[in-house]
Amino acid sequence: MIRLQSVCKLFISGRGHVQALSEISFMAENGQGVILVGRSGSGKTTLLNCIGTLELPDSGAIYYNGTDICRLSLRRRTLFRRQEMGFVFQAGNLLPWLTVAENLQFPLELNGIRGKAQRGRIEELLATFGLTGYEKALPVELSGGESQRIAFARAIAHEPAILLADEPTASLDSSTGKQLVELMVSLCQTKGTTLFIATHDQELLAMADTVITLKDGKMEQRI
Ligand SMILES: Nc1ncnc2c1ncn2[C@@H]1O[C@H](COP(=O)(O)OP(=O)(O)O)[C@@H](O)[C@H]1O
Ligand SMILES: [Mg+2]
Repeated sequence: MIRLQSVCKLFISGRGHVQALSEISFMAENGQGVILVGRSGSGKTTLLNCIGTLELPDSGAIYYNGTDICRLSLRRRTLFRRQEMGFVFQAGNLLPWLTVAENLQFPLELNGIRGKAQRGRIEELLATFGLTGYEKALPVELSGGESQRIAFARAIAHEPAILLADEPTASLDSSTGKQLVELMVSLCQTKGTTLFIATHDQELLAMADTVITLKDGKMEQRI
């Protein structure tokens, strides 16, 4: 279970002060799909980054199974991120000079999954995402939808507890995007992975267990 309690984040830049997150509180059970919506600049990326410990809130807490992950030491936070988190971004997720199989190898290597277990996991992931036989393909040879499928496969390769996806369908046509998110929601549900997706796509909202609407860093509504 993940629980946010009064999370606040202020950015100070040349443009002045921006309250990117203001008193955000909610919780999500393991295996739940949470969708974050809101206009550009509403705080979606900042919220995902805080949950992913890439950004630290100014105040508030983010509890994962009872531990406030914002208060972990730098070393423990890095390990937590490596072991328990998966990330998918809008585009450009794959390293272009590595093959599909080599891209998938990354999180497995970092988590000590090697040899036969690694080869088996890569095969299983490719089958799950309908990309068997793509091991030796380079990212440039993939369609947008295929690239994002590999990006999702890589993000869940090490079976993280939490998967964070920042506008993962923004570069896809709506039916490809919808299919991809459907697959992720059902996979995460099966594995007990808590899934957070930031999106503009209204069509995806029906797939979520929870929809959180952000406006100017505040939670507007929770469904
Ligand atoms: N590193 C930063 N420095 C200054 N301002 C930032 C930074 N990151 C985000 N912001 C500002 O915080 C607000 C929320 O941004 P963001 O979380 O990226 O929104 P969204 O993902 O919903 O478009 C915006 O006003 C943005 O300009
Ligand atoms: Mg964003």
